[in-house]
Amino acid sequence: MNKLEPMKVKKITCIGAGYVGGPTMAVIADNCPEIIVTIVDIDENRINAWKYNPINELPIYEPKLGEIIERVRNKNLFFSTDISESIANADMVFLAVNTPTKTKGIGSGQASDLSMLESCSREVAKCSRGHTIVVEKSTVPVRTAEVIKKILDANLKKEDSSNPQQTFSVISNPEFLAEGTAISDLNNPDRVLIGGDNELAIESLADIYSHWVDRSKIIKTNLWSSELSKLTSNAFLAQRISSINSVAEICEVTGANIKEVSKAIGLDNRIGKKFLNSGPGFGGSCFQKDILNLVYLCEYFGLTRVARYWQSVIELNDWQQERISKLITENLLGNISSKFILILGFAFKANTNDTRESSAIQISLNLLEEGANLLIHDPQVNSKQISLDLRIEETTSLSPDTNYNNKDKGKWKYVNNLSNSFSQVDAVVILTEWEEYKLIDWKKVTKKMRKPAWVFDTRLLLEEKNITDAGLNYWSVGNGR
Ligand SMILES: NC(=O)c1ccc[n+]([C@@H]2O[C@H](COP(=O)([O-])OP(=O)(O)OC[C@H]3O[C@@H](n4cnc5c(N)ncnc54)[C@H](O)[C@@H]3O)[C@@H](O)[C@H]2O)c1
Repeated sequence: MNKLEPMKVKKITCIGAGYVGGPTMAVIADNCPEIIVTIVDIDENRINAWKYNPINELPIYEPKLGEIIERVRNKNLFFSTDISESIANADMVFLAVNTPTKTKGIGSGQASDLSMLESCSREVAKCSRGHTIVVEKSTVPVRTAEVIKKILDANLKKEDSSNPQQTFSVISNPEFLAEGTAISDLNNPDRVLIGGDNELAIESLADIYSHWVDRSKIIKTNLWSSELSKLTSNAFLAQRISSINSVAEICEVTGANIKEVSKAIGLDNRIGKKFLNSGPGFGGSCFQKDILNLVYLCEYFGLTRVARYWQSVIELNDWQQERISKLITENLLGNISSKFILILGFAFKANTNDTRESSAIQISLNLLEEGANLLIHDPQVNSKQISLDLRIEETTSLSPDTNYNNKDKGKWKYVNNLSNSFSQVDAVVILTEWEEYKLIDWKKVTKKMRKPAWVFDTRLLLEEKNITDAGLNYWSVGNGR
């Protein structure tokens, strides 16, 4: 390689075959047919599913992802568990492993657990050959690239006849995709951010993106700005959701209507209309984790007031889930023990099968705690995932025709067939905004439900008139009367 020219990348390896690694690499492979892309992971089941499953059963559900995988799988996109060989062959290695909130030790409950990132950095140090550009794709606390650099530099191997001298450039390229719209976000990003101090490494990555992204949208910054921009942009988005949810509660007691209020606010183009939909609170693997991380960072630097400010965004989110659970109980005559509630939607939002931090988890747990029996439906989430999230096994049979006397917690059962699941239920709770729930024929299902019956619409998905005309009681978030 000419030292003054950016490297022409021919082979990319991405460590982490998850919600970021999978779609991001699929889009790179699709737009850069001359580059061989390999995604590696320690999770053999996940890799096998990417490798062999039909395109409608990929490990990650994301609209339009299947079409791309069909085009590029085994052409220039490969999946493997042979991590060391894939690293050895690559010019550029993306680190897209998970960075969840720490559950023990220093910073427990706030700081990110960087052990996965550290272990794959060590793997890169061990296996890479010649010059390797290491791209930090995971969302990380500020100055994490320094940790990666330290690991790489401390393990540099000497050149010998079979191994060219190892060198590394570490750059940051945070991912801004949102689950559910990942493919369009990746194909048409608002911006691509690349942070680093090595111009040539930055240019090499910019050259890849420029296959399909206009150069004016490729922003170059220093490493720390790039890392902090990702954390804080998630914090800003989450803050808008907590803000609008706080306004929803004010609407409910004052007689205002959140749809009208958020439309009025959003038409101000200084504010804009996105992320002003009130709902059951934000979920997903990123918002809570990244804000907690920001809070930890602020506390570390002694910025107590700033830490408190961001912490309150999370507290309001928890409150939204708690108050929704409470008002369901209150409306069902103050008691839900042994009653049947149909939960519609378990994913943290529509068009994804991701349930991490989904509001449905806490709301379901609250209702089970009060003794309710839950029938849970989601078009993309399976029963195994729901048991893992609730940490309660699915019950083998749960029939509204049986009389239950739940002295303790309630039970839950997965619903395969939505149309058969309304029989004798006291309430339906919409927790994810799947399009198919808009098609429910309320005049038909009302006949099966036990009266007085309720529909709780936490996503403002339904038309109130369709529900009330069917003789059902209707509550929706932010709708004051
Ligand atoms: N999910 C999102 O919407 C999103 C968006 C932007 C950024 N991010 C960030 O991207 C990162 C990845 O998120 P995700 O949602 O794709 O996570 P994920 O849990 O879906 O995937 C991570 C994968 O990394 C694998 N892994 C962990 N340690 C490994 C190791 N040492 N070697 C090989 N594989 C290993 C895991 O088995 C897993 O399959 C996180 O830092 C996240 O904050 C996520």
